[in-house]
Amino acid sequence: MRDLQLGYLGFSSTELSQTAAFFSEVLGVELLEGGHEGARLRLDDRVWRFSVEDGQANDVSYVGFDVPDLETLRQLGERLESLGFAVAEGSETLVEDRGVTRLLVVTDPDGLRVELAYGARSSAGRPYVSPIGARFVTGRLGAGHVVLSTRDLAGCLRFYREGLGFRVTDFADIPADTGEVRQVTFLRCNPRHHSLALVPADLPRRLRHIMVELASVDDVGRLYDRALAAGAVVRGIGRHTNDGMLSFYANAPGDIEIEVGCEGRLIDDSEWTISRYAGRPSSWGHQVVRGREIQIEKRKASS
Ligand SMILES: [Fe+2]
Repeated sequence: MRDLQLGYLGFSSTELSQTAAFFSEVLGVELLEGGHEGARLRLDDRVWRFSVEDGQANDVSYVGFDVPDLETLRQLGERLESLGFAVAEGSETLVEDRGVTRLLVVTDPDGLRVELAYGARSSAGRPYVSPIGARFVTGRLGAGHVVLSTRDLAGCLRFYREGLGFRVTDFADIPADTGEVRQVTFLRCNPRHHSLALVPADLPRRLRHIMVELASVDDVGRLYDRALAAGAVVRGIGRHTNDGMLSFYANAPGDIEIEVGCEGRLIDDSEWTISRYAGRPSSWGHQVVRGREIQIEKRKASS
């Protein structure tokens, strides 16, 4: 199976304009003006990467994976159907909205809308311009990674591994802030260590965090200063044990958590063996910053 990429992601926010402003002003993402509902955000020349929509859930609404060719799209559709997942052709309106040539739409076992997209448009004549010169690592590695809660890990592994061809990179037993140990499964669909991680949790929300990768530690440092000034840092800078990512975590308005990193590990399928990590997921850093507890309490209260 050829590589896929995390192409785009839609999420809802009760604080739409503040969420969009945060991405633009703090994280340096390009905010597109007008012509659509909500806010569209760019990390590169692709027509857009994140869509923020007005909504109560403060959660991911859909995830789009880029498929390299129509034959792969056809095969993926057939495999998903053979596993019992209903696959629908995306309408012309949807195809236009997502800025692609063709789409298949399917729902993962936890009810998340997953779109398989072929032919993503880059906006010729409108090169990506970050308001603060932030340079994101995308291309063959996709937009970054997304970490999702699941109430049905076995079903999700069937969907993403058997259906979409994701490979397990590793597992980690991570003690959560609440004291429970969470068994996280890290999955890749291209050389990026993981484009998706699944965390068994009975939460109302699917979205745990989105990661965007920057071109250098100085890009990350500049964004760290801005996130600190905005009072948005929830975990300080640190290095993850498994994917080697140097990163920090910030909480955008709408309670959308973003990991901002660089130097993520790339995997060569021919020489990779799966490991299981336990304990703290960082070799150093990622310390909880005051304010994180408040978010956790809020989530516990609303779950
Ligand atoms: Fe992450």
